[in-house]
Order: sequence, then structure tokens, then C-alpha cells
Amino acid sequence: MENNESKGMLLIGDRFPEMEVQTTHGKKSLPKDYAGKWLVLFSHPGDFTPVCTTEFVSFAKNYDKFKKLNAELLGLSVDQIAAHLKWVEWIENTLKVEIPFPVIADDLGRISMKIGMIHPGSGPRTVRAVFFIDPEGIVRLILYYPAELGRNVSEILRILEAFQVSDKYGVAMPANWPDNELMKDHVIIPAPSDVKGAKERKNQPDCFDWWLCHKKV
Ligand code: BEZ
Repeated sequence: MENNESKGMLLIGDRFPEMEVQTTHGKKSLPKDYAGKWLVLFSHPGDFTPVCTTEFVSFAKNYDKFKKLNAELLGLSVDQIAAHLKWVEWIENTLKVEIPFPVIADDLGRISMKIGMIHPGSGPRTVRAVFFIDPEGIVRLILYYPAELGRNVSEILRILEAFQVSDKYGVAMPANWPDNELMKDHVIIPAPSDVKGAKERKNQPDCFDWWLCHKKV
């Protein structure tokens, strides 16, 4: 059967395909060079564009928070390495913000086409996408934004933290965690798998019903 990659896209649950990439920090092997870490791979439409510049500054200013979550940032666009280097230099000289993460030069669009970072109906630019790749190289979440809307870096950090709690405790994360309207910073425990388990849950204080129980971790 055809895999998703051969259709020019990646889906949640797919293994990130192995590839060699050219970045502003030299050659890298994906996903191998990031094994054991979370990788936030994000594409932007183009260097020297306003919204993308604000995003790069925000990613850079929050870089330490990504490191604390055992995560690395990796940018990508269809620009050439020389354009990336010039843009990063401009940000550093003009906005006084150092860009600490590498940026892939996918000037031929080879990578973007392979994994779904170019919209087939809207020209050669990369779209604004974020791929969350876990320490085992599995794609866990994909976000797409339109060109006119900059990403919310706090939400990207929240997603990483939520995944790590979910994976560690085998729980699900409620809306807006850790500020959920029903259960604050609690997490959702898996539903019971039999009648006995469901009955036991009925009268527990941290259950709205047998299928909606929560706890603090
Ligand atoms: C921007 O980053 O400002 C931008 C990039 C591509 C199209 C429109 C806006």
C-alpha cells in the first residue's frame, strides 16, 4: 500500500522519513540527529517577510523554554542558504536577537513537497506549518496556519508540556490545560474497560460520571 509520504504528506502517527538536510548550522540527518529529543520542525513562507520575522524573534526569545522541555527547534523554507544567513544576520544586527536554532534551506522544495509543507494549489512558497516529532521519530501533531497569521509560541510550548505529561502518566489532557474550566490543572484518566470498573467510578469525588474522571499528577 502507498504510504502517506509518497502522497506528499505526513500524518499524525507516521514515522518521520529519513533525510539529509542542509541547514544554517551545517548538514543534519533527520530524524536521527534528534533521537531522544522532541523536535519542533516549523516551516515559514519566506525570509525577509514581516510575520515570519516576528515568529523567529519569538521562537528565539523562548528558546530556553524549549530546551528545558528537551525540545529542539528547526526552521525550514524554500529559500537558499545565503538568504537564510542574510536574514538571520539582519535580525541579529537590527533587532538585536540572536537566532540560536538551525534553519533548513529547501530551495528546490524537495523536503517540503515530500512532507506536506507546500500547498499544491498555492505556488512555490512553504506554508506556515509546525510538526511535532517525538523522541522516537514519530509525528505526533501537525499545525497549519495561513500566511497572514503568526504562530502562538506559548501554545507550541503548552503542547510539548502536555504531550510529556500525557506520555508519562498515560492520561489525556483537557482543553486549555493547565487552566481547564472544569478540572483546572487536573488530567483525564482513561475510561474503565468493564462494568465493575464503571460502577466503582460512579461515586468517586473526582468523577463527573464513570467516563469523565480526573486527577492531579
Ligand atoms: C509574512 O511573513 O509577513 C508573509 C509571508 C508570506 C505571505 C504573506 C505574509
